[in-house]
Amino acid sequence: MANNEMRHFLDTCDFTKQELLDIIDLSLQLKKAIKAGYEPKLMKDKTLAMIFQQSSTRTRVSFETAMEQLGGHAQYLGPGMIQLGGHETIEDTGRVLSRYCDVIMARVIDHDTVVRLAHSSSVPVLNGMSDYNHPTQEVADVITMFEHLPEGKRFEDCKVVFVGDATQVCASLGFIVTKLGGNYVHYGPKGFQLRPEHTDIYERHVQENGGSWMVTDDPDEALTGADFIYTDVWYGLYENELSPEERQKIFMPKYQVSKEMMAKANLGAKFLHCLPATRNEEVTDEVLDSDISIAWDEAENRLTAMRGLLVYFTMYQKEPSELQVAAAKAEFEEFMANRF
Ligand code: CP
Repeated sequence: MANNEMRHFLDTCDFTKQELLDIIDLSLQLKKAIKAGYEPKLMKDKTLAMIFQQSSTRTRVSFETAMEQLGGHAQYLGPGMIQLGGHETIEDTGRVLSRYCDVIMARVIDHDTVVRLAHSSSVPVLNGMSDYNHPTQEVADVITMFEHLPEGKRFEDCKVVFVGDATQVCASLGFIVTKLGGNYVHYGPKGFQLRPEHTDIYERHVQENGGSWMVTDDPDEALTGADFIYTDVWYGLYENELSPEERQKIFMPKYQVSKEMMAKANLGAKFLHCLPATRNEEVTDEVLDSDISIAWDEAENRLTAMRGLLVYFTMYQKEPSELQVAAAKAEFEEFMANRF
């Protein structure tokens, strides 16, 4: 795989199908090696700056663990811990952090923040979720589906159905499924469905790579033939004045993933959730804790994806040759011997 130019990972739509498959392959190979006891130190002595404007369990811990396993180090820069977007501009933060660190990840409130960080950064910036998308989650989701493909089916033959409110995870899942030539459905109530700002992109992907997309509130149309059913919390992208009770009335019971809903999908269909879940709201305990749930594999695959992404996006960084290292060592030792 050739990857000579520095790039940022802000949106999977910036990558070709083959590039995304390369990231997935690399992630799976690293997982296999590490599970077998070999931890390649591909991030040796490298530092990851982790900016979090919001709280996180999976993104934070999986990035930090990935860096440790690969021989590097991660710095947690939590909400309010650094001068981001206050007196100091976002661009200046990007310029400064990229002088200290080899890679930056950022979970941000506004997507524009991660875009501005990337524009000013001289090292790769990875989007750890914004109000627009969640690309590292997308990679983990696809890895999980690849590991649980129905027998005899390719990913391109599968139907992936997102149930419920149009969250950024819902939008993101559609980006990667259609980019990889799969069939994507958003099954949600009117007023809470994905809009053309997302579906126009799906249409472009389908034109390029095959597959299909659909947005519907018809359960038969959505669920018949589904191989994967996915859901997220009922707090989506579109602001409204609804109280939690009013929201419940719209979504419950039609959009709650239950055993009855799963029975409408293909035999052997699997359930996914990006987590954290509001148990017995968007999904019943009975489904989340059942054998058809692959949500825990999916959570583990955040780590699988982070390792692959970290290695892929820092591979361009040129290491000094042995000769250069030896020359630097000799010069420094001479300085120390003569001066101290
Ligand atoms: N799915 C996800 O991004 O989880 P965290 O918010 O815990 O990182």
